[in-house]
Amino acid sequence: MSKHKETPTTLPMMAEGAARSLLLLLCCLLSMLGGSLAWKARHFHWEVGYVFWKPDCQEKVMIGINGQFPGPTIRAKAGDIIVVELKNSLPTEGVVIHWHGIRQMGTPWADGTASLSQCPIKPDEVFVYRFKVDKPGTYFYHGHYGMQRAAGLYGSLVVEVADGEKEPFHYDGELNLLLSDWYHQDIYTQMVGLSSVPFRWIGEPQTLLINGKGQYNCSLAAHVVAEQSACEITSSSQCAPVTFRVLPKKTYRLRIASTTSLASLNLAIANHKMVVVEADGNYVQPFAVDDVDVYSGESYSVLIQTDQDPSSNYWISVGVRGRQPKTQPALAILNYYPNAAEKLPTSVPPVTPVWNDYTHSKSFTYKILALQGTPRPPSSSHRLMSLLNTQNKLNGYTKWSINNVSLVLPPTPYLGSIKHRLANAFVTVKPPESFPVDYNVMKPPVNPNTTQSSGVYMLEFNSTVDVILQNANALSENISEIHPWHLHGHDFWVLGYGEGRFTKNDVKSFNLKNPPLRNTVVIFPYGWTAIRFVADNPGAWAFHCHIEPHLHMGMGVIFAEGVELVGRIPKEAMTCGLTGKKFMNPYP
Ligand code: C2O
Ligand code: CU
Repeated sequence: MSKHKETPTTLPMMAEGAARSLLLLLCCLLSMLGGSLAWKARHFHWEVGYVFWKPDCQEKVMIGINGQFPGPTIRAKAGDIIVVELKNSLPTEGVVIHWHGIRQMGTPWADGTASLSQCPIKPDEVFVYRFKVDKPGTYFYHGHYGMQRAAGLYGSLVVEVADGEKEPFHYDGELNLLLSDWYHQDIYTQMVGLSSVPFRWIGEPQTLLINGKGQYNCSLAAHVVAEQSACEITSSSQCAPVTFRVLPKKTYRLRIASTTSLASLNLAIANHKMVVVEADGNYVQPFAVDDVDVYSGESYSVLIQTDQDPSSNYWISVGVRGRQPKTQPALAILNYYPNAAEKLPTSVPPVTPVWNDYTHSKSFTYKILALQGTPRPPSSSHRLMSLLNTQNKLNGYTKWSINNVSLVLPPTPYLGSIKHRLANAFVTVKPPESFPVDYNVMKPPVNPNTTQSSGVYMLEFNSTVDVILQNANALSENISEIHPWHLHGHDFWVLGYGEGRFTKNDVKSFNLKNPPLRNTVVIFPYGWTAIRFVADNPGAWAFHCHIEPHLHMGMGVIFAEGVELVGRIPKEAMTCGLTGKKFMNPYP
């Protein structure tokens, strides 16, 4: 996987090849003799295509993998190589798949981001993703072209510890919960609405899904109260409630990840406390809670004890945070063996905290600290950028901007265009690193007009970068939204959070002792969040709000570092664009 050749460059090609095959042979022999090798290559053949599906009992067309939704779960061990041969069987559109949380060290072309790491895979073509999963944790994958994620193109990716290694906690069994939200309107209609004048907002999702299943307009809980079938659901249907079988008196690890298009979520289990132990593939100092907030792009592991009355089953409930809850909570059943899985719990489903109780959300988020032994951040940084998040207007269109620049993705992927120094592939004007000192983050923008660009923040290789994500008021008075920011290619340390506008003084409050390492972090309404990362992964990387419509409206930036060190980019990753199309200078 290393991009650097280990053989001396003077060695003739043939000899190098022969040496490689010899090494391969040796490996095979060794594995036959000595049992399993430390790592494995895990091969998958996937075909992406449209499927008729009923995720919430209503039939729609979704994007599935191998005829199913959600896509297959990948399970691997740390150090394994994942090989996914992806065939695009969508008849008229391209596709890519991003491996969310996997850093792609040395394989930036496998990140699966259209316009960044590769060209969209054309209909009927195959692209091979080959990358290493170097860190155990709870991850997922999803489409990263247009709004394909919201059409159902996602699935779980679980990386267990390598053989012989141990997690820093004990558990007897494991349950996997991939959370998402679902709209009855198709993504094409959504996209057109978002880029129309007048603007048509997608609204709230119709249904929340757990492992791709939910119930629209039919509350399972009402079922209990009314003692009658409010929902026409059979256990074999695609929208059947999810049940998780557990044995009494054991410890379970729940892997929870959210790939929602819009919704911020909260998960609770009736009668059961949860102990948070992992966030985004990094161990955290264990802490006990009654419910967990999960923002789009985040993942957690929590431990539960099945120490309740074993004659009963219990509700797992998932509700909406941060926006008026117009979507019913999703319910699943924690099924204590040997009770029947369909046996409905006698207690009521846990109620999600009030949607705008941000104090509750902050108290949860602030509890997340790195487990001892987690790498510490460098004590200072080389560069500090402040990124102001605003909602704006551009020729009548509604946009999200970062320092008054709304991101537009170019037809030619950055990775190839930067490495091969293509002219006119993207705007070369540097995007701004700060915003006016007199900008009032508590008020709508005085001048709502914004600009558009495909500009890149070029980072010095191996430098330490601090980013202050500054939230602000949206276009209308008294509105400031939650935005979960996700960074590709790296984990970052979360140094701190604060209210209002970030000031120089706030630097003193940074947590350099045990800041959590993550790949996604939230900014709260009218607040700021500070992160630090080391630009040590050659490639071009997206840093963006994980809310699908927000990204579509320009809410992201591009970082690039050490691209000259990137090895040979597969040809298939670069066969698009190169149109030489001229971009307008966005800063007249
Ligand atoms: Cu899960 Cu760029 O996103
Ligand atoms: Cu956002």
